[in-house]
Amino acid sequence: MWAETVAVTGAGSGIGRAVLLAAAARGARVAALDVDSSAASAAAASALEAGAGGAVAVACDVSSETSVTAAFDAVSAAVGDPGAVFANAGVEVNAPVHSFAVPDWERVVAVNLVGVFLTCREALRRLVAAGRGGSLVCTSSPAAFVGHAGGGNSAYAASKGGVSAFVRSAALDYAPHGIRVNAVVPGATDTAMLTTGVPAAERADAVARLRAAAATQVPLGRLGRPDEVAAAVLWLLSDESSYVTGSHLVCDGGLMAKSANDF
Ligand SMILES: NC(=O)c1ccc[n+]([C@@H]2O[C@H](COP(=O)([O-])OP(=O)(O)OC[C@H]3O[C@@H](n4cnc5c(N)ncnc54)[C@H](O)[C@@H]3O)[C@@H](O)[C@H]2O)c1
Repeated sequence: MWAETVAVTGAGSGIGRAVLLAAAARGARVAALDVDSSAASAAAASALEAGAGGAVAVACDVSSETSVTAAFDAVSAAVGDPGAVFANAGVEVNAPVHSFAVPDWERVVAVNLVGVFLTCREALRRLVAAGRGGSLVCTSSPAAFVGHAGGGNSAYAASKGGVSAFVRSAALDYAPHGIRVNAVVPGATDTAMLTTGVPAAERADAVARLRAAAATQVPLGRLGRPDEVAAAVLWLLSDESSYVTGSHLVCDGGLMAKSANDF
């Protein structure tokens, strides 16, 4: 059993949903936050079936200060102040820099970077007041460290680079409070995000192409599964990683360890 309340943003789908269910399976009380309220509700219902000690679904746009504040108030009222928080909600929009529309660039940064800040800020306000320590995990990306060969990734890469820098800085600020701040770095993981922007009718083909590419380009020869990333995140959220802060846990099948050159 896990006594903590675990809050997850972007819990309606993919990696966030997998983390919610993994925490639920350990008996945690869980809070599913997502801008897609029906997806959040479905995830919370699945969490109860998976063994959660309690579950709440809260509609939350992480890019909105008022929405995040209200969401954490709702979480605290329903399942208690979270001791472990996964700041994970994210979006991806790709275009070459010279044709990137400002609203699209700003939205990526607002959700991926400002959203992480707002989520962590609400969590930290409660954790500092409680004085019992805690653990925050933010979702970064290989794009924070290396260029994406597919191109057009400037906004996403900048937002995730910001998340990684934020994590290191916040880790130092809150270490004296016993609050740890870390990042997970998922590689190409089999979620809806992989086919963002692909028309529904073409999605199955796109997924097949991605799986074929992963077979030759990812050292472990396949896409990652959300539950594999969730195992890494659960470790960071739990006391099992009690001496780890300001750190990045790469869960990418070896992708970032590999050079494209074979000489
Ligand atoms: N899938 C990958 O290959 C991959 C790789 C590296 C990093 N990531 C990161 O992992 C995180 C989770 O992505 P995923 O792959 O599970 O994608 P996903 O699309 O399956 O899930 C993302 C979730 O975030 C929610 N969301 C989007 N905007 C939001 C907002 N403004 N407020 C609250 N919720 C919002 C969506 O509704 C969705 O439920 C993201 O930060 C993403 O950038 C994904």
